[in-house]
Amino acid sequence: MNILLLGSGGREHAFAWKLTQSKLLTKLFIAPGNAGTAMHGVNVNMSATDFPSIKDFVLSNNIALVVVGPEDPLVKGVHDFFLADEQLKHIPVIGPQKQAAQLEGSKDFSKQFMFRHGVPTAAYRTFTKETLNDGLTFLETLQPPYVLKADGLAAGKGVVIPSTLQEAKAELKAMLADAKFGEASSRVVIEEFLKGIELSVFVFTDGVSYKILPAAKDYKRIGEGDTGLNTGGMGAVSPVPFADDAFIRKVEDRIVIPTIEGLKKDGIPYVGFIFIGLMNDNGDPKVIEYNCRMGDPETEVVLPRIKSDLLELFVAAGKKQLSSVSLELDQRTATTVMMVAGGYPGDYEKGKVISGLDKVTTATVFHAGTKASGNEIVSNGGRVMAFTALGNGIQEALNGSFAAANTVKFEGCYFRRDIGQDLLNWKQ
Ligand code: AMP
Ligand code: GLY
Repeated sequence: MNILLLGSGGREHAFAWKLTQSKLLTKLFIAPGNAGTAMHGVNVNMSATDFPSIKDFVLSNNIALVVVGPEDPLVKGVHDFFLADEQLKHIPVIGPQKQAAQLEGSKDFSKQFMFRHGVPTAAYRTFTKETLNDGLTFLETLQPPYVLKADGLAAGKGVVIPSTLQEAKAELKAMLADAKFGEASSRVVIEEFLKGIELSVFVFTDGVSYKILPAAKDYKRIGEGDTGLNTGGMGAVSPVPFADDAFIRKVEDRIVIPTIEGLKKDGIPYVGFIFIGLMNDNGDPKVIEYNCRMGDPETEVVLPRIKSDLLELFVAAGKKQLSSVSLELDQRTATTVMMVAGGYPGDYEKGKVISGLDKVTTATVFHAGTKASGNEIVSNGGRVMAFTALGNGIQEALNGSFAAANTVKFEGCYFRRDIGQDLLNWKQ
C-alpha cells in the first residue's frame, strides 16, 4: 500500500525509517520531508497543512493511509477534512480529529478533561482578560514557583514558571492584557507546581483498545546540567530507569485507562498517539500535559525499540481492530543525541555543509533540519540531526550515540555531552 507521511522533522525521519521496514509498504511519500526522509521514500514539496493539495496528492497517488507527525495539521483538522470529503473518507488517518487534538491545542480543555475523568494532575484555574484581577488575587494564594500556561499552541514557549509573586503577576498581565502569545494567551491556566522527575509515556490507540509504547525521558534545555533556554529537545533515553514495571502499572491504571475510557464517555473518537508528559512525584504519576502526537526526539528512541511492524499496527487501528495485533518490544536501551545549529534556540544560520555522515557506523542518523543541496547535505533548521544507538544498558547505547555525534560536523554544530548521565547514576 502507498502511504503519505506528513511532517519534516527527526520524528518523521524515524517514522519513515520504521515504515520502510514494513512488508505492507509499497511506496512512501513524505510531505514536505527532509534530506533523511528522502532516503526512504519520495519527498513531496507540499505543506502538511495545505489540505486541498494533500487531497489532490492522495487521490492521484493512490494513497491508502495517511500518518500525521506534528500537531499543527491535527489541531487544524486534517483528519476532519478527510472524514468530510466523499472521496477521502474511507482513507484512514493516523492522528486524532480536531476535537481530540484539543487535548494538546487547549490547556484548559485538557485540564477539564483530566478533572472530569479523575486523571491525577496539578490543581488549576483558568483566567481571561476579563478576570485578570481574579487571577492576580489567585496568585497571592499560591506558593512559589508559579506555573502560568498560555491556553493555546505557542510553539512550545507558552509555559512560564516565575519564582516570585511580582514576576508572576507581571507575566499574567503580559499574557492576558498585552497578548504576549497572541490569541494563544487569551486564556491562561495557572496551576500548582509539581515536584519530581519528568518522563513521557506514549500510548497508541484506535479509541477502542490501546498499546502502551516504551517510556522515554527527554532533555529540554540547551545547556549541560539542564541549564539555559528550553528547546524542542536535545536528546532522549528509553527505557527510563525510574519508570519500572510497578510505576508503569500505576500509569496504566490511574492515567491511561481513565483517559481512553474518558474519551469514550465524552464521545470523542481517537485514532493515533497520545503523548503523556508525567511527573513522577515520589512514585505517584501526575499528568503535566497531553500531546496528540509522538514526541521529538522521543520518537527517535521509541520506534527503534518496537520490533513489531508499525504499519500493521496503523492498518489495524484504522479498522478499529488494534486489539487483534500484538506489540513486541526490544528490551535494549535506546539513546539519542541531538545535534543543533550554533545559536539555537535563539537565532541561528542555515545552509551549513554537513560532513562525516558516511563515516557513522555506531548509530542511526535521523535527520531533523536538513536538506539536499547539489551533492551535499546542508543544515536547514535549529535541530539538525539525531544520533540513535541501541545497547545493553544506557552507557553502551550512549557510547554509540556520542561516537556518531563526534564523527559528524558542520560549522557551529553543538550537542549536549551529558545526555543520560543523570540516569546512569540513578538509584531507587
Ligand atoms: P508543558 O508545555 O505543559 O509541557 O510545560 C513545559 C514544561 O514546564 C514541562 O515539561 C515541565 O518541565 C514544566 N511544567 C509544566 N507544568 C508544570 C507543573 N504544574 N509543575 C512543574 N513543572 C511544570
Ligand atoms: N520533546 C517534546 C515534544 O515533542 O513536545
